[in-house]
Amino acid sequence: MGEVALVGALSGESVMLRPVVADDVPVLVHIMSTPEVRQWWDAADLVDDWPLADSSATRLTIVTGRRIAGMIQYWENEDPRDRHAGIEIFIDPDLHGRGLGRDAIRTLARYLFDQLGHHRLVIDPAATNETAIRCCAAVGFRPVGMMHGRERHTSSVRDGMVMDLLSTELR
Ligand SMILES: CC(C)(COP(=O)(O)OP(=O)(O)OC[C@H]1O[C@@H](n2cnc3c(N)ncnc32)[C@H](O)[C@@H]1OP(=O)(O)O)[C@@H](O)C(=O)NCCC(=O)NCCS
Repeated sequence: MGEVALVGALSGESVMLRPVVADDVPVLVHIMSTPEVRQWWDAADLVDDWPLADSSATRLTIVTGRRIAGMIQYWENEDPRDRHAGIEIFIDPDLHGRGLGRDAIRTLARYLFDQLGHHRLVIDPAATNETAIRCCAAVGFRPVGMMHGRERHTSSVRDGMVMDLLSTELR
């Protein structure tokens, strides 16, 4: 998982996705530390050497113009009967609501379908994360089920909304 080399950058409409490099990390940590992102993203991820020492996912910096806008990551399940990939994303709150989230998800989804040969992708935002659910739906993800008690966040446990996208459904 997470070992596929990404040759070059992926271009979307207004974003470019490229592998995270050490120089990106301070900005990404800053974005991850904002309340708007932390409420949905596990702060336990913020360990020393994050994210370069963690190979559980492949991480791409989202760039718009000359600015780092956030990060998008994917992991792959290589079981031949159930081969699929999953996506997670965060965007700088200063840039929310401009379509960058859906652009980044669409761009990565196209890469996972066309270049890595996946036919199905999943994403599982918290069930109360209406912004993420709407952003994913705009790209074609459909809610397919609720995972009760999906994630532990600070002192509570909350449900997750499983959404999936087949290659024929990407918008
Ligand atoms: C989810 C996230 C990546 C979306 O990024 P973005 O660049 O703002 O996304 P977009 O601009 O492409 O789309 C956002 C959509 O949510 C809608 N939205 C914004 N606030 C909303 C709210 N409070 N309730 C419902 N929808 C909302 C916007 O109107 C827009 O939909 P529309 O264009 O159909 O009107 C960003 O909000 C984020 O980083 N959140 C924190 C981390 C997170 O939640 N990650 C997802 C975990 S998988």
